Amino acid sequence: MGRLCKREGSVYMAVQHVSLGVTIVGGGMITNDLLLPSLYHLQRTGLVRNIDICALNTPPLKELKENREFQEAFPGQDFRPHPALSEGPDKLFPELYRDVVAAMAPGNMVVVAVPDNLHYGVVQHALEHDQNVLCVKPLVLKYAQAVEIEKLAAEKGRFVGVEYHKRCDRRSLVARRAYALGQFGAFILGEAKLIEPYYYRFSNFQNWFTCDRTDPFTYIGCHYVDLVYFIAGLKPVEVSVHGVKGKFPNGNEAFMWSHGRVTWENGALLSVTNGLGYPDDAAGSNDQGLVMFCEGKGRSGLLFHDDHYRGVAYSYQEGIGPGGSRYNYVSPDFYRVVPWEGPGYKPVGYGYESVAGITQAIHRMESETAGMAPEAALKARRQIIRKVDAQGLIATPANSSINELVVEAARMSILQNAVPVRILYGEKPHIEIKHP
Ligand SMILES: NC(=O)c1ccc[n+]([C@@H]2O[C@H](COP(=O)([O-])OP(=O)(O)OC[C@H]3O[C@@H](n4cnc5c(N)ncnc54)[C@H](O)[C@@H]3O)[C@@H](O)[C@H]2O)c1
Repeated sequence: MGRLCKREGSVYMAVQHVSLGVTIVGGGMITNDLLLPSLYHLQRTGLVRNIDICALNTPPLKELKENREFQEAFPGQDFRPHPALSEGPDKLFPELYRDVVAAMAPGNMVVVAVPDNLHYGVVQHALEHDQNVLCVKPLVLKYAQAVEIEKLAAEKGRFVGVEYHKRCDRRSLVARRAYALGQFGAFILGEAKLIEPYYYRFSNFQNWFTCDRTDPFTYIGCHYVDLVYFIAGLKPVEVSVHGVKGKFPNGNEAFMWSHGRVTWENGALLSVTNGLGYPDDAAGSNDQGLVMFCEGKGRSGLLFHDDHYRGVAYSYQEGIGPGGSRYNYVSPDFYRVVPWEGPGYKPVGYGYESVAGITQAIHRMESETAGMAPEAALKARRQIIRKVDAQGLIATPANSSINELVVEAARMSILQNAVPVRILYGEKPHIEIKHP
């Protein structure tokens, strides 16, 4: 199948419709709550062909297979599990994703949804095997790794999109435009908050959310740091993060709460509070929001986003809300399945739109270059990637690696009692401890 499409300049070229084979690496919460249902819907639209999911062992794969909401929303749709479900629940397959990805034909898509500290290895492996990548945030935990990924992706002409879904929230997009038009003035002081539910402490988080690997700022604070960068276009130049430790039920020690201060290139300050502790009994499902005060001409400006209570509250007959609660603040904005003209239900919300946006970008790039000679296709893919980088809407290694600098600085700071860590830009961006 083909159609004519106008690309760069005025040359019309044949476009082949390809559909993407997708392998999701990681079968945990984010795969269940957002990635798989979004990809199921994209399978319906023809963008996605087969879906394979590779996890560390079989229990999460079984849960995904048995998820009633998927069966109701996406009747007849399914994925191929790796390892096979006949394997025992305790047998671990940490390297299996390597074979599954290596077996894919070039130019398809790997979705990386493993714990933060494993992203780097999986993304590199996918690129080495000529795959495009959708990676959940944060892309990686070190700036140097983001640069390596950017280089490898450019060399291969394969797309890497980082799934910072808050960028796709309409309120962020409206704010980005309004800020660029100068409607607020210049950001000067702000507060960002994202407190995830207490019940997370009883999940698989116990096995990886440990002090040596991550912390609340790195895990969720990065969303709002990215958002301030996305809205205001300012670069962060200093980070200090204080952590409060606690223990998971299995005895592993973690930073359960964190308080960060990010200084921006114009001297603005952002306070970032995060934690795994929003009460399960509360109306939730978590607490989050952003406030930005700005300096204008003869008056100040304000951006206030309540991302917690979005104006919808339900009280259920049963305790079907997050954490088993009955009364809930329901966000129709992030991700919900709703009735539509087709079978089952369809996903809506900025979470879905973010996954769809990256998948569509990859699909478009592969479709537009499918019929070309290899060298020409590589050149064209590189051009398309550079255009997305420059546009700055989809987060890519090239346009969002301030996030890796911030995360790297935050990890250094939280492990050394909130020492301020500076981010230095220039030819070789790097971080260093700020000495008094
Ligand atoms: N708001 C967001 O953008 C958001 C929300 C939640 C999670 N995340 C990110 O998603 C990632 C995963 O988080 P989660 O909440 O789903 O965690 P989780 O602990 O629920 O799931 C992790 C999954 O990774 C799998 N896994 C671990 N090692 C593996 C390996 N070697 N090979 C294959 N699979 C392996 C496990 O089997 C498990 O299914 C993290 O990076 C997290 O930061 C992002």
